[in-house]
Amino acid sequence: MDLHSRYPGIADLKHRAKRRIPHFVWEYLDSGTGVEATLHRNREGLDRVGFMPSILHGPMEFDTSTEFLGKTYPLPFGIAPIGMAGLIWPDAEGHLARAAAKAGLPFTLSNVASQSPEDVAPHLGENAWFQLYPPKDPDIRKDLLNRVRDAGFTTLVMTADVPVASRRERQTRSGLTNPPKLTPRLLAQIAQRPAWAIGMARSGPPRMRTLDKYTDNSSNLPPTAHVGYLLRTSPDMDYVHWLRDAWDGPLVVKGVLRPEDAAPLQKAGVDAIWISNHGGRQFDGSPASIDALPAIRAGCDLPLIFDSGIEGGLDVLRAKALGADFVMLGRGFMYGLGALGPQGPTHVIDILRQDLLANMGQLGAETLNHLPAITPLVDAAAQR
Ligand code: FNR
Repeated sequence: MDLHSRYPGIADLKHRAKRRIPHFVWEYLDSGTGVEATLHRNREGLDRVGFMPSILHGPMEFDTSTEFLGKTYPLPFGIAPIGMAGLIWPDAEGHLARAAAKAGLPFTLSNVASQSPEDVAPHLGENAWFQLYPPKDPDIRKDLLNRVRDAGFTTLVMTADVPVASRRERQTRSGLTNPPKLTPRLLAQIAQRPAWAIGMARSGPPRMRTLDKYTDNSSNLPPTAHVGYLLRTSPDMDYVHWLRDAWDGPLVVKGVLRPEDAAPLQKAGVDAIWISNHGGRQFDGSPASIDALPAIRAGCDLPLIFDSGIEGGLDVLRAKALGADFVMLGRGFMYGLGALGPQGPTHVIDILRQDLLANMGQLGAETLNHLPAITPLVDAAAQR
């Protein structure tokens, strides 16, 4: 099967994933919070970033490689952390880790993923990143960092934009509870998705395996929280300093939108800032992530990672042109998994690569260091 003729874009994978995974899993993956204004703003913000196409360049040779944190990557993007990815497809983290290793791209494992650092260790390439919802207990912190280092992770990402649980109303409406309970309603949704159901029956229900060691799973949790909340704290700058001392590899802080947060993070010795509004999943009143990027870029010289709303190669170029050094995707990769299982992540990488090249051609940009200045498009909706 030629995947490119059947699924030429991430939108095609999204469409298929929706039909292959149960409704509550889809809602977990696809939803934002509130009325999803931030989720839509992410898309609208990206659509407003335009370029003047550049002509008469003759034949061109393209180079999509990017330097980031002392390494050269063949492409300027990687895989963002996804909690409980195993709910989307069995062995999700294994498929993601292998695809990233094969392509030489970063894969970020969430500490609330459904596989542990030890589970994915055999599949990791050189660019394994680990994301931390910061544990409260200092002994757990230390133990976790040792496990992560021993498993082969090089870069630590602390997520700062989840100080409290978000409400994610769509998720709740779908019948998903915490802890997840197999109610007749969820069973009815599962029954309509046989390929997913068979896969899950074989692999067993996913759980947050990294945390197994530290939890007894018995506590009562608020309705939108999960077992990860038992362990995590709402971090402050002292926490960042502690992490900086405890981790000798690159340290990244994820979930930054305010320019004034950059300087203290830089002073604390953070190696890069990850600009993100968590794909619109946390706070429905925040600006589009892309609209926060220019001011942060203008005010600091740290390497910047960007995510939230990226759906194709053109979006990657938009973020790069506005000053991002590297780009990450969350849902895009998960739509690939939901649509195509094991083949999904590699197909997403291929789509992004082809889309990057096609759009670099339109811009006459042979490398990612030679992107033209952006042309703001005032009314994105009117352009469609
Ligand atoms: C996430 N995200 C996330 N972030 C994080 O730091 N730790 C995590 O465990 C998770 N879990 C998670 C689950 C699901 C289902 C989604 C969709 C997202 C956020 C993620 O890393 C990233 O910031 C966003 O997904 C980026 O937006 P896009 O690419 O999905 O639009």
